[in-house]
Amino acid sequence: MEYLVEMKGITKRFPRVFANDRVDFNVRPGEIHALLGENGSGKSTLMSILAGLYRPDDGQIIYKGRPVSFRSPRDAIRAGIGMVHQHFKLVETFTVAENIILGDRNISFVLRPAAKERELTELSARFGLAINPGAYVWQLSVGERQRVEIVKMLYRGCQLLILDEPTAVLTPQESAELFANLRRMADDGRGVVMITHKLSEVMAVADRVTVLRGGRAVAAMTRGSFSERELATAMVGREVTQESRRQGSAEGRTVLEMRDVYALNDVGRWGLEGVSLAIRSGEILGVAGVAGNGQRELAEVITGLRPVQRGRIFLEGQDVTNLGPQALIDRGISHIPEDRLGTGLAPGMNAIDNILLKDYRKAKGRAGLIDYKAARSRTQKLVQAFDVRLAGLRAPVKLLSGGNLQKLLLARELSAEPRLIVAAYPARGLDIAAAEAVSRFLLQERRRGTAILLISEDLDEIFALSDRIIVLSGGRVMGEPLRTETATREQVGLLMMGAGGEAKAV
Ligand SMILES: Nc1ncnc2c1ncn2[C@@H]1O[C@H](COP(=O)(O)OP(=O)(O)O)[C@@H](O)[C@H]1O
Ligand SMILES: [Mg+2]
Repeated sequence: MEYLVEMKGITKRFPRVFANDRVDFNVRPGEIHALLGENGSGKSTLMSILAGLYRPDDGQIIYKGRPVSFRSPRDAIRAGIGMVHQHFKLVETFTVAENIILGDRNISFVLRPAAKERELTELSARFGLAINPGAYVWQLSVGERQRVEIVKMLYRGCQLLILDEPTAVLTPQESAELFANLRRMADDGRGVVMITHKLSEVMAVADRVTVLRGGRAVAAMTRGSFSERELATAMVGREVTQESRRQGSAEGRTVLEMRDVYALNDVGRWGLEGVSLAIRSGEILGVAGVAGNGQRELAEVITGLRPVQRGRIFLEGQDVTNLGPQALIDRGISHIPEDRLGTGLAPGMNAIDNILLKDYRKAKGRAGLIDYKAARSRTQKLVQAFDVRLAGLRAPVKLLSGGNLQKLLLARELSAEPRLIVAAYPARGLDIAAAEAVSRFLLQERRRGTAILLISEDLDEIFALSDRIIVLSGGRVMGEPLRTETATREQVGLLMMGAGGEAKAV
């Protein structure tokens, strides 16, 4: 039997979109087949058709040499095709054994639970899927729940196992373990389909790969004949440049390093508890997390607005711990604070004074007087470059809209040619155009080699701009920094909820 399953010309329309457009896809027994594509390319839909959840509008499925048409997932499972969805479907208040056997018409569990549990333990051990049949599902981590779902499919005799973005909820260690287990299932003669949008995973485990783009299968390749670059091109539909893939600048020198830093919050408790991190030149480090988990304290210790109680902060190798705000400004640290009017700008003062505010010493003429004319022309230039809409250079800045305030602040902070920018929620409250301008400025600074710490609650912003992502929760950095190219929102979300090493269930 060459193919375990063949899908031919599968088409599936949803009200506004062709989710699948004449897709051909097949799986051989004994292989791990990656189904690769960007979000919305039709991967889950295609596999949900195979697993009996959706019916195709057109096309044919040949399973073990015979045309099939599944009316429900139960139908598909009975035939030997099982899918583990992104959102698990276990019953929290049942045990692992009860969940696995649930829906199995066999009543022997009720009669002989111990024997059934033994059978499950043996089955899971065979494929390296450690589970505890007696545990309740609510007690399990996400990784454990996933193993239960997989064992459930194996228990029901599935020959073809489909996993929808299985690593999204796993730590890297759990992912490596999963891959090894999938290999055992394939070696056992089963077919394994792994849905993913991560090139690295295809490179790591796939024997073959089918690439979907915009609902169409645009490439099918066998291990040895594909490279990460070719896969990226097939997936995206054009040559992927370094810029748009935001390749990290791992070679850049370390600009900021924090070692085991402790700081108190405003009520005298630990706001930061042993934070260590490093940012390189030309790198944006995104700090994800819910505000109030040390974000403000982090920005303030780096910019000298809050004392460090323990630990050290280094700027380009020099110890700058507790140097104070002006000394840090002089050394090239810019701050885009969360309260733009409080810490950032002086509301009653005009634009020129606000631009001057930070570096009035530089603006002094030879006689020690402020060269107001020079300041005026510099402000004029910045206002133009940053497209700040204001009534006049001499009007108080409190009259500006949020977006214009933010741009004025950015103009001042960025025109200082900083080495490090600490940006807290830089796009918060801005309209789309202003938010885009802010992103553009930050990326421009990054290209110039500035190191940037980007604190944000907006995961879209974090993912769009950052090279690496850390999660701040309860004043600590959770887990290891994630590379944005391989990180998922789920991973970040789990860390935000305080999950350390093994990701805890949501
Ligand atoms: N139940 C549905 N109803 C309407 N549109 C859907 C439905 N499921 C998916 N789609 C649409 O079909 C397209 C493919 O979705 P999907 O198969 O989930 O992609 P992927 O799994 O590759 O991210 C998307 O445009 C998505 O919005
Ligand atoms: Mg999907």
